[in-house]
Amino acid sequence: MVIRSSNSERVNAPRKCLTPGVWHPWTVKTGTAEHPSPRKCLAPKVSGTNASVWRPLFLAVCLALLLLSCATHNSLVMPLYTIESGEADKVESICIKIVLIADLHNDIYGTDQAVLIQKIKSVEPDLIFLAGDIVDDKQPIEGTRLLLEGIEGFAPTFYVTGNHEYMSRRYSIKTIRQEIQAYGVTILSDSYTKINIKGKELLIAGVEDPFKKKYEDKTYDYKKAALKFLELDEEADYTILISHRPETIRLYPYFDLVVSGHAHGGQVIIPKLLNGLYAPHQGFFPRYAGGRYQHGKQVHIVSRGLTVMRPRLPRIYNPPELVVISCLF
Ligand SMILES: [Fe+2]
Repeated sequence: MVIRSSNSERVNAPRKCLTPGVWHPWTVKTGTAEHPSPRKCLAPKVSGTNASVWRPLFLAVCLALLLLSCATHNSLVMPLYTIESGEADKVESICIKIVLIADLHNDIYGTDQAVLIQKIKSVEPDLIFLAGDIVDDKQPIEGTRLLLEGIEGFAPTFYVTGNHEYMSRRYSIKTIRQEIQAYGVTILSDSYTKINIKGKELLIAGVEDPFKKKYEDKTYDYKKAALKFLELDEEADYTILISHRPETIRLYPYFDLVVSGHAHGGQVIIPKLLNGLYAPHQGFFPRYAGGRYQHGKQVHIVSRGLTVMRPRLPRIYNPPELVVISCLF
């Protein structure tokens, strides 16, 4: 039997939402009881219960995606740390700018490293520090070559080893040192040098990564090597140490400023709650994950590093950074 309904019947028909495939005679314009047309509904209406469930769920998913997108946003940032020495004069102070590059792991920013080089040059630094793990143990060295080529001769540049340079399977540590030195970079290997910048005499020292013992010299002991800096008796306006590893800071009380990397910001940051979840050689909830630390008069700045390509954990609320330090005298 064919069932038909007029327009007036439709208006007066009960407003019900039909389940597809279930026969509801008052909604059917065509079809038979034996072969009903399943997708005809006079007044489809989403039930109040369904809407109240789906709407907040949809909003929650959108919010979660937005938070995830913000959390994993990996645009390069340039934090600025300003250090005022005791003799800084508010009116005629001398400002020495340092760019701290750590844990690049051969990553490349922009075509031929153009983005990173441009950002470094935009600071017009007086000094550039390469604080270890610039070369990765697995990735090709091209990223480091491009960087060093781009900043060659731009400012006095100093380098110390990191653990990954010692771990490299592609290049020996000797080859890496030679590569870096070829661009006019000073290698600091448990050694120091003095440099005059804007009339201020700076002592700049650098220490080897403790992995030197494992990969190059079995007799090496980084704690013994640190002793020479305890006994250092040099006149300088300001003393700076470059040490790839931040967790060894207590071995170097002699210096006014110590700069480090290695911790990668602890990979996961929860703003205002957690400054780093995990860092190599410090474990979970690392003390020196990244940022500025004060040890008495000594300032310790730990870069969160530049690599985004080789994380063991994703970087969450932890963008790669190119650190700028402004020392006022
Ligand atoms: Fe490292």
